[in-house]
Amino acid sequence: MTRKILVTSALPYANGSIHLGHLVEYIQTDIWVRFHKMQADTQCFYVCADDTHGTPIMLRAEKEDISPEQLIDRVWNEHTSDFSGFHIEFDNYYSTNSDENKELAQSIYRKLRDEAKLIDTRIIEQFYDPEKEMFLPDRFIKGECPKCHALDQYGDSCEACGATYSPTDLINPVSAVSGATPVRKESEHYFFKLGDDRCKAFLTSWTQAQGHLQAEASNKMQEWLESGLNNWDISRDAPYFGFEIPDAPGKYFYVWLDAPIGYMASFMNLAKREGLNFDEFWKEGSDTELYHFIGKDILYFHALFWPATLKFSGHRTPTSVFAHGFLTVNGQKMSKSRGTFITAESYLQHLNPEYLRYYYAAKLNGSMEDIDLSLEDFTARVNSDLVGKYVNIASRAAGFIHKRFEGRLISAEERRQPEEEELETQLLGSEEMIARAYAERDFSKAIREIMRLTDLVNQFVDQNKPWELAKKPEMEKRLHQVCSESLNAFRILTIYLKPVLPQLATRVEQFLNLEGKMGWQDLTTYPTNAINTYEHLMTRIDPKQVEAMIEANKATLAPATEPHSQARHAEKQAHETQPASGTSIAPIAETISIDDFSKIDLRIARIVNAEHVEGADKLLQLTLDIGEGKTRNVFAGIKSAYAPEKLIGRMTVMVANLAPRKMKFGLSEGMVLAASGDTPGLFILSPDDGAQPGMRVK
Ligand code: 2FM
Ligand code: ZN
Repeated sequence: MTRKILVTSALPYANGSIHLGHLVEYIQTDIWVRFHKMQADTQCFYVCADDTHGTPIMLRAEKEDISPEQLIDRVWNEHTSDFSGFHIEFDNYYSTNSDENKELAQSIYRKLRDEAKLIDTRIIEQFYDPEKEMFLPDRFIKGECPKCHALDQYGDSCEACGATYSPTDLINPVSAVSGATPVRKESEHYFFKLGDDRCKAFLTSWTQAQGHLQAEASNKMQEWLESGLNNWDISRDAPYFGFEIPDAPGKYFYVWLDAPIGYMASFMNLAKREGLNFDEFWKEGSDTELYHFIGKDILYFHALFWPATLKFSGHRTPTSVFAHGFLTVNGQKMSKSRGTFITAESYLQHLNPEYLRYYYAAKLNGSMEDIDLSLEDFTARVNSDLVGKYVNIASRAAGFIHKRFEGRLISAEERRQPEEEELETQLLGSEEMIARAYAERDFSKAIREIMRLTDLVNQFVDQNKPWELAKKPEMEKRLHQVCSESLNAFRILTIYLKPVLPQLATRVEQFLNLEGKMGWQDLTTYPTNAINTYEHLMTRIDPKQVEAMIEANKATLAPATEPHSQARHAEKQAHETQPASGTSIAPIAETISIDDFSKIDLRIARIVNAEHVEGADKLLQLTLDIGEGKTRNVFAGIKSAYAPEKLIGRMTVMVANLAPRKMKFGLSEGMVLAASGDTPGLFILSPDDGAQPGMRVK
């Protein structure tokens, strides 16, 4: 029976460029899909779309003085061109701002409301920007951290001390949209009752059942389920770029409600165009397969909200959700200042996309671990494996076949010597293992095996030395045998590598004159066609190209902030779309006079004692001596960065005239200064040797 498979990758937001971090997922999915499309008994569809709704997109369009529709059209064009540059071959790449998606979102909502009775409303209080006349998502509110008093922190978490809180806890909050002081305002919101017992029962069984989630993911879900699911707020008030909720004027579906429905909508659009049966893939009890590839940061949505949405609206649920880890470059988070925040477009200006496809494949193993793109290793590996070993086989054999044998491989009857048989047997003997590794998304295992086979083929060529055989007329037949065997082995290796290197495989198909004859089922078919002239298949990476790419990214990308993480909740993205400032540091605060500055009394302090604070996650209790004849007690949000015993005896700098603050754990009589930025870490200050407690810092 033919397997019918529908595959998706997460829908990228329509307000940012595709970068190498995103590409981990699209390349992973594309390889998996291409492998399945090569199987004779499998029908596989791969759909995706731009995720177009939400506040950040609405505000970004406004800032650019265009309509959201104009913005999402432009970004759609950019995204599709980036994807095709990397040979990501979608069967449909659509948009969540489509008629199909609107209809589906509304009909799913009606089913949840009217049939499942899982929609509720409740009045909630939120921050509201009175100037802009809109409710503010957490990430659009900034203020002073209630824990460590760092300024300019987002409404949901503090980057200085790592505390998480609700925006109403911020001290002196301001709207990041208009700069106005937000006010609290009530409004009615719509909720999907995930806290309902039916949802809990369903999700407990779905997340623990074999095959739906990776083991790590299902453990995580169990923890979340045990700690209790809250009802999910699925509405946002106007103004909002999205779909209006039926029978609720001025209320819109939260972007995360209609985004996954975008998977269905994209397939519906494809189905209409190609005459496919939509219901066969989405109706309850469907026997087709549905797989979602995602990043681990959006598991919550895909492993809880989405299956529940499908289940209680009368649809099938996913066969599996496959989560991958994040990308680091040279062992660190991608960074604009280091030039390692590389967009797809910029990569394509410097390097061949198949280098990256190969490198990612060599690293991906189907787990949720992060993967590292070490640029040195990338260069070395591509040059050694692909150019030095794999392509080398063809270039060593093709010339002789072409010049000496009119392009024909030796006939099947005259073909074999015992060692040739052994070579082909070994190559074909790995077929099942390679296929299983691809199917299980353990591409690194597949690549290791393919490269082991590539080494065997090169050893065969080295042992038989065609360049020497070519000098001896009596060895003509042997030369023909050896070169034919090498090219046939090259053909088999190319089929194995085809999901990863589709363009190279197409060029090999042309070279071997085997167009349309290099599917998985053709592995055992010895070719009889005359080959075409060999043309160079792949060039080495020159490290200078990589350097140029890094330099170009340093020079041209200059937004104000580093990307925080690849955490991609819509509202979290807001700060990543701030206007470019020319550096990678946080924006410089408003200018103050020297008089303003001298109001702050900074003193050298000796840390006399440092201890953990019972019940506090982030704080250390410091006893500071600033030469006053008595010590001061200060609570500092630096626990994540320092073991208390390491601090005792150190000199640092404190704000000595900050009004004492009563905290849950006692009175804090000042503040120590610490540096933090967009890269992880928190660093207290130290004066140079010689500074004494009590000296003024100015
Ligand atoms: O995290 C993100 O980038 C979201 N735009 C992914 C949405 S995936 C799906 F649910 F639509
Ligand atoms: Zn803080």
